[in-house]
Amino acid sequence: MIGNLNHVAIAVPDLDRAIATYRDMLGAKVGAPQDEPAHGVTVVFISLPNTKIELLYPLGENSPIRGFLAKNPSGGIHHICYEVADINAARDKLVSGGARVLGDIKTGAHGKPVLFLHPKDFNGTLVELEQI
Ligand code: CO
Repeated sequence: MIGNLNHVAIAVPDLDRAIATYRDMLGAKVGAPQDEPAHGVTVVFISLPNTKIELLYPLGENSPIRGFLAKNPSGGIHHICYEVADINAARDKLVSGGARVLGDIKTGAHGKPVLFLHPKDFNGTLVELEQI
């Protein structure tokens, strides 16, 4: 059911520093910061030949990233995103298999439908599915 790894998201406590690390130290192609008020994050996409890295930085007081950074002050991997062809079919199959989905299907930072799955059902990893 799952296809390509679309991105790995990393929560960062200092966005400028993280951008400099990826651009200058690692020599990656780093995009411009994008504010995503609906998700409470500022996102920076880093393009790699086979996937993307998504840097996440808190936007607003109620950002879901704040709690994560409080527990992981130097940042850390926040979620991984797999591509699926049909997100409704994927959700139905997962729910019938006993997996917990977090909230509803929403429009993600790439403008495509996304869904989050509970980390307790996936070996401690928050999983995002994105319909491609
Ligand atoms: Co993501």
